[in-house]
Amino acid sequence: MTHILEISSLRKAYADGFEALKGVDLQINEGEILALLGPNGAGKTTLISTACGITTATSGTVRVGGFDTVENFRQARSIIGLVPQEINLEPFEKVINTVKFSRGLFGKPSNPALIEKILRQLSLWDKRNNQIRELSGGMKRRVLIAKALSHEPRVLFLDEPTAGVDVELRRDMWEIVAELKRDGVTIILTTHYIEEAEAIADRVGVIASGEILLVEDKEKLMARMGKKELEVQLSAPITEVPENLMSDALRLSADGSALIYTYDTKGERTGITQLLADVAAAGLVLRDVVTRQSSLEDIFVDLVHEGEAS
Ligand SMILES: Nc1ncnc2c1ncn2[C@@H]1O[C@H](COP(=O)(O)OP(=O)(O)O)[C@@H](O)[C@H]1O
Ligand SMILES: [Mg+2]
Repeated sequence: MTHILEISSLRKAYADGFEALKGVDLQINEGEILALLGPNGAGKTTLISTACGITTATSGTVRVGGFDTVENFRQARSIIGLVPQEINLEPFEKVINTVKFSRGLFGKPSNPALIEKILRQLSLWDKRNNQIRELSGGMKRRVLIAKALSHEPRVLFLDEPTAGVDVELRRDMWEIVAELKRDGVTIILTTHYIEEAEAIADRVGVIASGEILLVEDKEKLMARMGKKELEVQLSAPITEVPENLMSDALRLSADGSALIYTYDTKGERTGITQLLADVAAAGLVLRDVVTRQSSLEDIFVDLVHEGEAS
């Protein structure tokens, strides 16, 4: 399979010598949504700016649609749309002109129908004649997306599109991203909100201290790394775990009405059969059993902590 974006051995040391990227390899499939998850300072913005060719790499290569972002800068850049983390708009310009000019900068012929479609898609059509300074923060963020889409990019980078926005706008943003995917746009977004990756990504990459810790299909990641909990609900509460059941994997719920057993979904043996036999041997009567899957959040926290400890 050909990749729309191929990042190989990418390193970036800033002028002060700080190494923000320590050899990043990343391949992106056409049409997918990749969420790059990482704490503040992980190197997400550096990675995106370098991938777009607006920050110079110290070494390594980036190819977009087959074009090297240094050797074939113009061709590579024409395929890329970038929604930056910081709002950088001309306050006195009208919304519609901001978006039109952006298309012009890429040397594309004017296309009023396309500009209208983009502005409508982002719920900006009614505001098209407003000056940027009259817009709310959320609306400005939509203008940034409209600008990035104005030259019909095949790959769209969104750098923390929902940082500091309210819950409603975040959901709108997710809807916009899903719609762009339906249009065939490949999307790479950075976020430090795990729920965002969980909600919209096809694949999740985790970055910390300039290194990609993993990139994996979201569903597989959750299944592979996830731990499950089995809650054994009792017909009558107990005050302590019976002696024959004592184990690190087992605890009593706060109200004593259930035993909570944590097990690994990738383990060959879950230990559930033995557990249930031991529960019966202890003379406890079951009311019900319930299982729960741990979230991407638990997985992420574990990973980043492992990275810090090593
Ligand atoms: N121009 C710069 N000069 C020196 N260090 C920088 C510069 N820009 C970013 N950094 C450092 O590089 C690291 C990664 O930054 P950044 O890519 O912005 O991370 P993120 O977007 O994940 O929060 C941080 O430690 C940051 O302080
Ligand atoms: Mg950043």
